[in-house]
Amino acid sequence: MVEDLKRVRLHQASFLEDVAVLEEGSHSDLNARQLNIFNSPKKGGSAESDAQPYLKKLGIEIIENRQPIQFTPNVNERIHRWAPYVQGFSASFVQSIFDQYKNEYANPIILDPFSGCGTVLVQSKINGFPSFGTELNPLLQFIADVKVNSWDVSPTYLIRTYHEMPKDRRSPAPSFLQSTSHFNPGVLKNLELLKGGIESIKSRSDKTKIKNLLKMAFSSILIDCSNLKRSPCLGYAKSKRVYDDTPLVLLEQKVTQIADDLKLIQDDYSNFIHTESHIALTNAMDFQHNQQFDLVITSPPYMNGLDYVINYKIEMGWLDFVENQVDLKKIKDDMVVCDNVSKGLIRDFSESRSSYSNDWLEEIRKNIKANIKRRGAYRRHDMPYIVHKYFDDMYKVMKNVVSSLKSGSRFILVVGDSLIADVYVPTDLLLARIGLDLGLEIEKIEKARVRRSGQIRSYKLRESILTLIKR
Ligand SMILES: C[S@@+](CC[C@H](N)C(=O)[O-])C[C@H]1O[C@@H](n2cnc3c(N)ncnc32)[C@H](O)[C@@H]1O
Repeated sequence: MVEDLKRVRLHQASFLEDVAVLEEGSHSDLNARQLNIFNSPKKGGSAESDAQPYLKKLGIEIIENRQPIQFTPNVNERIHRWAPYVQGFSASFVQSIFDQYKNEYANPIILDPFSGCGTVLVQSKINGFPSFGTELNPLLQFIADVKVNSWDVSPTYLIRTYHEMPKDRRSPAPSFLQSTSHFNPGVLKNLELLKGGIESIKSRSDKTKIKNLLKMAFSSILIDCSNLKRSPCLGYAKSKRVYDDTPLVLLEQKVTQIADDLKLIQDDYSNFIHTESHIALTNAMDFQHNQQFDLVITSPPYMNGLDYVINYKIEMGWLDFVENQVDLKKIKDDMVVCDNVSKGLIRDFSESRSSYSNDWLEEIRKNIKANIKRRGAYRRHDMPYIVHKYFDDMYKVMKNVVSSLKSGSRFILVVGDSLIADVYVPTDLLLARIGLDLGLEIEKIEKARVRRSGQIRSYKLRESILTLIKR
């Protein structure tokens, strides 16, 4: 009852938010965005009703199964908390999947084609399950790899190495980033000294893992030391105060936390320390796995979601994974598309002949195109092709994954739908349909969370858990 009331209030609040945007200007001087909201037939609408025709065609219903699915609680979970990450999902969600299928798979082999910072792989290893992943962002692949492959490091040796690091070697901030506006001068100097200290640790076999743990720890404090915040996109934080010694304080805290977790791991999971976990730095669209999987648990990028490269450019630059903007763009262009990719990439896609499509996608593409034309102004005129490329990219990933599935295995995707130029895009149902095209069955689709559209705040979208099964 209380929850229902809260939901009603939230919905009223978002409706009022749409109205507030409109009231910012008189009817005659509304800007393009305000006008679009004013004229939108989707105000106060919901994915629930817009999904009905698609659900009817698939012959299924969506099951309500609200649950905390986001990364936030991981900040208190051992290992998961080693690096902050806003786009991951919660360790408890992954555990709930393992628990759900524990009688069906005795010792499952797990895959996450979009590994991110390794939530699925870390949780697999905690359960003693071998796990594999692919990830295109070199920073995230590095973090995930360090999280799963450092369990045998001596916590005391880690702390000692950290304290013995030279304190007087300065290694310059990445030249292509605007570090003098990202950091206060005293903070910047201390970060350069810490970077220099870590780099001077010799990469001998007994020190390589320790050096990597320290690099990961260093990357994890950078945003907290900066004048920026990630909420979830990277931007300046106006009222944030950072002190000159913040890098020293935060790094010490982080290294202590990692050492504490290593002690716990070595006490509680000693049998699993060498359980296989491997994350390849590669494209999930074409990587050939050489084993077959029982469970695939993953969360693909959301179509109009975050930019997984620009959002992590500070850490990628400071850890020397990229040297310039061109490096960043190259990584981004290979990823499953998001809505701020380069226009050239989309133009090339629109001119290419071979791409996945179906009647739903064609209809959606046509409607987005017509709505953008009617409106006259839209953030990106190539949006119909961005949407199409998203599903073409996802088709390639899913096809690749399906070729490595054992019979009886499950392919579980956590995904959010979208509202684009007043056209509802049922991402979960379109991915379910791709699954059918690839010979899988839809076992269930659960609604885990209600989200609000970024365009029309009063429009209710959903985050779903799609479970496909290979018979
Ligand atoms: C939603 S995040 C996954 C987060 C992950 N579940 C976690 O908890 O850390 C999606 C990830 O897919 C990665 N990615 C995007 N396109 C990719 C591709 N073609 N191949 C491999 N990884 C890709 C992004 O870099 C991002 O880390």
